[in-house]
Amino acid sequence: MAIHFHRDQSILHLQSASTSYIINIYPSKMIGQLYWGPRLEDGDFSNLVSLVNRNNTTDPAKIDYEGMEDVLFQEYPCYGTTDFRPPALQVLQNDGSSISSLRYVSHQIIGGKPALAGMPATWCANDNDADTLVIVLKDELTKLAVELSYTIFQSTGAIARSARITNAGTSPVQLRHALSMAIDLPPQDLDFIHFQGTWARERELIRQPLKGGSHLVESTRGISSHQQNPFIVLASPDCGEERGTAYGFSLVWSGNFVARADKDQFGSTRVLMGINPFDFSYKLETGESFQTPECLMVQSDAGFGDMSRRFHRLFRDKLVRGNWAKKERPILVNNWEATYFDFTADKILDIARAGKELGIDLFVLDDGWFGHRDSDNSSLGDWFEDRRKLPDGLKDLAERVTKEGLMFGLWFEPEMISPDSELYKAHPDWCLHVEGRHRTQIRNQYVLDLSRKDVRDGIVAMVSEILSTVPISYVKWDMNRPLTEMGSAKLPADRQREISYRYVMGVYDMMERITSAFPEVLFEGCSGGGARFDPGILYYMPQIWTSDDSDAVERLKIQYATSFAYPVSTIGAHVSASPNHQCGRVTPLETRGNVAMSGNFGYELDLTKFNDSEKEVVKGQVAFYKKYRRLVQNGDLYRLKSPFEGNETAWTIVSTDKTEAFVMYASVLAVPNPPLRVLKLAGLDPAALYRIEGPTTYRCRGDQLMQAGLRLPTSWGDFQSAVWVLSKE
Ligand code: DGJ
Repeated sequence: MAIHFHRDQSILHLQSASTSYIINIYPSKMIGQLYWGPRLEDGDFSNLVSLVNRNNTTDPAKIDYEGMEDVLFQEYPCYGTTDFRPPALQVLQNDGSSISSLRYVSHQIIGGKPALAGMPATWCANDNDADTLVIVLKDELTKLAVELSYTIFQSTGAIARSARITNAGTSPVQLRHALSMAIDLPPQDLDFIHFQGTWARERELIRQPLKGGSHLVESTRGISSHQQNPFIVLASPDCGEERGTAYGFSLVWSGNFVARADKDQFGSTRVLMGINPFDFSYKLETGESFQTPECLMVQSDAGFGDMSRRFHRLFRDKLVRGNWAKKERPILVNNWEATYFDFTADKILDIARAGKELGIDLFVLDDGWFGHRDSDNSSLGDWFEDRRKLPDGLKDLAERVTKEGLMFGLWFEPEMISPDSELYKAHPDWCLHVEGRHRTQIRNQYVLDLSRKDVRDGIVAMVSEILSTVPISYVKWDMNRPLTEMGSAKLPADRQREISYRYVMGVYDMMERITSAFPEVLFEGCSGGGARFDPGILYYMPQIWTSDDSDAVERLKIQYATSFAYPVSTIGAHVSASPNHQCGRVTPLETRGNVAMSGNFGYELDLTKFNDSEKEVVKGQVAFYKKYRRLVQNGDLYRLKSPFEGNETAWTIVSTDKTEAFVMYASVLAVPNPPLRVLKLAGLDPAALYRIEGPTTYRCRGDQLMQAGLRLPTSWGDFQSAVWVLSKE
């Protein structure tokens, strides 16, 4: 067991091969945080207790634990007594008060990891990689019980935390704050890093010193959002890719969230993460429970690179599921930017045939194949083929594409309803709305009320009908607007503030039903590009469309920052047309390919328009990716040069056995008369001799490549790039 209980010290020690996380039970029975960092030997931790004790007394009997909660390091602080910092839990009781005081009752240590009912979460098969600690806390007066769950994974040192809150009292209560995770970190200088963005510019890496007061990122849009990602890092000011301390926090949730760090009067930092308390409340009747989503935590003293690789392994091995989790992903061609809504079956077949000639595996028919959808102003919800565009039907088209030798994929936006649709005529109450209030359209559409089971059943039936009658190997599950007028026709007034939570749980229910009914289908998540790039979606779908911006230069930043939490195998990346449709930039086909090949590769342009020399380039890219996609999709990522810090970007992906590596380098603007440039690699076997193939082909030892570097080509124009492959001799 990796979890030790020291009854004499009232201490619980979660220990992995690389990390330790230590919890103490104060004499007042409040739960405290003693240590989170590199692995400590198990044993006597009384020194740690004295380190966090602000009173100048060594006699525990003289310490006023109740009166000084504000200065204690805690694990799940509540509102109402002497802790004045932001709480993890605030509960409105029937008598109007909102005070809670949670005290330790018992704990249990379990091998493995129990599932979270109806919710995405990391899992552990029978490989002894995980152990779980469940601490039961109780409020004596109200009988509210909280089970804090901590799973520690040996392989990554990651910790998964969540809380289950049960009303064991005699009257209903309203949860106001029910966060997944709280931790108090001891005084130290920290930077707060978050990933801010907008449509087509997702996840810009922002780093700022945490001086004092609050740093808070959140979503109030009903989805995790383009604007912020449910992932933050706190890092020592000296933290870089290979050294420094990083604490990463990732929430397995696809809706409203909050992630905040508050530096208090004594310089310690409280970190909180969970469902956003803004406009949230959840009614718990007697005997009912509420499960929070899970927060994943990774600590590293070896910089951002090590932290990211731990998250990547965790996501790849313990979050993503299904037939496609470990399979090589197909190279696809998607018709969206080739045709938008304006296509015929013949045009689609032409693109598919051109794809086949180039070696592409999968054709994806995007938006516009259903109802009478000639633009984005109709037909969402009418999931039946448009015979004007596909006179012989969708099945016929899919069969013809399949006969050409490609798999066939299809786009859906199952969570939406257009006012101009058969579905809306039949069920005008199926969208989120508040009776009497104007229903706001965004992209000419409403959001379905997926808190309702009847609505979910209707959509699951329509989507399943198509998936069971048409030969479909891939589904792109899109979601193109935030939630507004969050009201449900089916919920009573005192449960209306549960809708944003119930909506996400409804989405998960639909995703679970559809993905488990069609296990052979590869699902890709999407939300106007990357507005729902989060671990919740990855539990159901092993890859996500990263951004609608596929300009190679913009993608350097987007993919670089996305990789802080998410593995390359989850990052959808396509070659699109030049000039680029989002920003008009003209870039070489080679660079578009090199950047997209550092993800789940595909094309999103009209392949029939390539001239012969372009076709040769593309054939080369496709063949290259097929040869190395296992490495790219499963290797360890080392970021070498940051696009946020200069003109150059570089990363390498090294196979776990260090026998192969893929290196990508890009320079944005040309530099006249440039200095000599080298790229120091990382992650290689220092003693191994590598054969290097790329713009320069030679042999070199790993230590030289890492310490002295790889020679970069010079005399280029703008937007140039190169890739190399290294193989151990
Ligand atoms: C948004 C997606 O991100 C695009 O790739 C495309 O599928 C459009 N929706 C279609 O409406």
